[in-house]
Amino acid sequence: MPRLKRTVVLTVLVICSSVFLLFQLYYYRTYVSKQPGPHILSQTGHLTANDVQWQTVKKFLALSQRFRLPLFLADTAVLTLLSQDALRRHDRMVREPHCSFLCTGRPAMSFALNANLWKLDSTFLSAAEQKGFELLEIRGQDPRLASLDTLSGEEIPLHLLLRLHGYVIQVVFLYERTGNYLWHGPLRLRASTDRNFAPFRMLDYGRHAGALDRPELVLTVVDGLDVRIPRNISHFILEQRHAHFLECRHREARNFLQLYPDDSSPEAVDFRRKVKSLLHLTARILTHLGVPFWLSSGTCLGWFRQCGVISYSRDVDVGIFIVDYRSDIISAFRDAGLALKHKFGKVEDSLELSFLSEDVKLDIFFFYEEGDLLWNGGTQAKSGRKFKYVFPRFSLCWTELLELKVRVPCETLDYVRANYGETWNVPVRSWDWKSSPSNVQENGMWPPAEWEQLIQVY
Ligand SMILES: *[C@@H]1O[C@H](CO)[C@@H](O)[C@H](O)[C@H]1NC(C)=O
Repeated sequence: MPRLKRTVVLTVLVICSSVFLLFQLYYYRTYVSKQPGPHILSQTGHLTANDVQWQTVKKFLALSQRFRLPLFLADTAVLTLLSQDALRRHDRMVREPHCSFLCTGRPAMSFALNANLWKLDSTFLSAAEQKGFELLEIRGQDPRLASLDTLSGEEIPLHLLLRLHGYVIQVVFLYERTGNYLWHGPLRLRASTDRNFAPFRMLDYGRHAGALDRPELVLTVVDGLDVRIPRNISHFILEQRHAHFLECRHREARNFLQLYPDDSSPEAVDFRRKVKSLLHLTARILTHLGVPFWLSSGTCLGWFRQCGVISYSRDVDVGIFIVDYRSDIISAFRDAGLALKHKFGKVEDSLELSFLSEDVKLDIFFFYEEGDLLWNGGTQAKSGRKFKYVFPRFSLCWTELLELKVRVPCETLDYVRANYGETWNVPVRSWDWKSSPSNVQENGMWPPAEWEQLIQVY
């Protein structure tokens, strides 16, 4: 009896394990083997997309190391994966064990290169071609040589695209600019360029020119490959998203200045020097506080119209979105040696601050959202009258003025037109802030009981 029982148990066990084995085999065939892995050939024997991506990046990095390209990984998709929290990172590593970051599934990967440390030469290009890469070099004018005196025609490499098996590596050339930042050019295709060379619309860089602070880099290992990345990835991604750069319109400015030559008296020269140091100081203070600002009113007009400062304007105007207001702005300026001259309005309505540095006034206008519009307020101290200056909505771009990387409204022409009307291109020396602007509106009165609070003059 016990003997019989043992045989039955054994038989049942054998059947069970056979069924389990068959199940495993079935599972493997239907699920596991279909998952594309970096080192597994697909069923048709071709390389999978991940394979191509991984092999191409590996080949490119080997080549760049051989030629000592001072480049770093600037791809927003990969950097986003690298910056995600450990749990999600672990999740990805389980799914794509060999290529958990570089295999983004996107058709291109971006690297950036400090062009001042490396010259694009033909030996690198022919080595890349020997490795099977197809190349597309995008050149453009060197903005560093453009000024009011010389409109440069010299071209420099802006982007290099390397393609292998349909996968594209984008190398963005970063150039140092006088405002102590890095600049990259737009990616403009010539009529003769093959529009199918790369998925141009999907590239991270090149829709327009960009400005970035010089990132601190660290050497790291990503999916087994040595590569440099920005140390503060989230900071870099944030900067990259808002990097849109506008070049000053040198040609138009030169035409303007031929019609209306700049004042070169010692007073005007002195005023421009003071504006420059005040703007640099303002940028230092507000950047330290993390408060974005832009050139407004006459200072914006000076940049847009003549790539400089309107010498008879007597003040510096900047704008700040009220959502970025911080109560320590006043003390920060005071600590930097600027005296508060007046404070009008309140955070909820028409806030405006004025500081004095030497004999140049800095006006800070706070901008409020209202439907499709943005507006800032004005206050007449002696009467308590309120004014409102209305602008079409705008976003912010970087530019350079007086060797400073600074923001302006991207839709600069609309902004200037709103403020100065269609004749913005004609100098006006007698300007009344209550009536001259095209976009000024009467906005009632501050209640006399609140004047003491809302109209502070020092
Ligand atoms: C990285 O950048 C972010 C965003 O700018 C900032 O908030 C954070 O403090 C930075 N981290 C380090 C360690 O510097």
